[in-house]
Amino acid sequence: MKIPLLDLQPPLKDLRDEIVEAVTRVIDSTRYIMGPEIDSLEKEIAEYCGTEDAVGVSSGTDALLISLMVLDIGPGDIVLTTNFSFFATAGVISRLNATPVFVDINPETFNIDPKKLSVKLAEMDEEKRERVKALIPVHLFGQCADMAEILKIAENYNIPIIEDCAQAIGAECNIDGEIRCAGNIGDFGCFSFFPSKNLGGVGDGGIVTVKKSKLAELLRLKRVHGAERSYYHRVIGGNFRLDPIQATVIRIKLPYLNEWHKQRQKNAKYYNKLFTESGLNEKIKIPIIMHSKTMQNPHIFNQYVIRTKKRDELQTFLDVQGISSGVYYPIPFHMQECFKFLGGKKGDFPVSEAAANEVLALPVYPGLTTDMQERVVEKIKLFHLS
Ligand SMILES: Cc1ncc(COP(=O)(O)O)c(C=O)c1O
Repeated sequence: MKIPLLDLQPPLKDLRDEIVEAVTRVIDSTRYIMGPEIDSLEKEIAEYCGTEDAVGVSSGTDALLISLMVLDIGPGDIVLTTNFSFFATAGVISRLNATPVFVDINPETFNIDPKKLSVKLAEMDEEKRERVKALIPVHLFGQCADMAEILKIAENYNIPIIEDCAQAIGAECNIDGEIRCAGNIGDFGCFSFFPSKNLGGVGDGGIVTVKKSKLAELLRLKRVHGAERSYYHRVIGGNFRLDPIQATVIRIKLPYLNEWHKQRQKNAKYYNKLFTESGLNEKIKIPIIMHSKTMQNPHIFNQYVIRTKKRDELQTFLDVQGISSGVYYPIPFHMQECFKFLGGKKGDFPVSEAAANEVLALPVYPGLTTDMQERVVEKIKLFHLS
């Protein structure tokens, strides 16, 4: 029996007929661009995240890109972000010819370290600090970054926040006693409906949540090449529209999202128990939940990521045993070939570099059985004994 890293079949089984019917309805309607499915999804996601509005877009990457465009980010500007994330987080900054400035992460959560963010800003001279036009914290693997601290820093320097929520829809965070959802903390919340996310479509898609209706207006304008009416372009935008087929699928899935989060959380808890009982605590570090466990979703476990020194050997061993795992991410941004021009070198970001060598994501999807989880941990134990 093989155990994949992700299996999209279990949740699909229950919803397949409904999805096929809804997609057929969109096809038969011949309304293939924008339309009522998008409008309804935007309202539903805004309600789920507790934000004023939400604007459907073509992908999580485009959600980040269009948010930066709304802030008029361009040449000469600096955007601060984590050094350890999916490439899109940093790629969008360079695509606008702005400069990404990276900040190292917290070793327990893999999220941007607010203390290091503070130091980075304090070390900048006045001229450089004035060029900082945005901050992109990422809620990696399904857990919010330390947004209470990050908000204070951003407010202090008056820097807009674009949250990268691609992996964290519904994840919660305590801001001065108030529980707030990812995407309802900064100025923009950027989500991905990539099929592997907790709320995934049948292709690419994304959405941006906002608290200010003025920002939603600008996002809607930029989404359609900056045209208020066809062929009259007030500003430069792009084709960032969400496909109504994706919107209809996401709408069907949304009511099940909290139940899927629960299943992932249950699986994570069971792994934690199995690892704790396995006697492997010297060899394997299990994920830490930083936020209060009394919240409904302190972590939504888009990925269950362990740390281990012999990561590559373990991954190969598991593969031979029919167990798939993933490395998110093997190379921190400053070591990526395309960012060589920024002058980063080995040793600059020691926490990200160590994480890149040690992280391993294990299967945690809804539908994973306890038998499967027991097998995963048994094989990891066997690897360390042999
Ligand atoms: C942290 C992060 N940011 C951005 C993205 C980009 O999303 P998409 O693949 O929908 O463009 C992803 C998705 O993989 C992601 O995980």
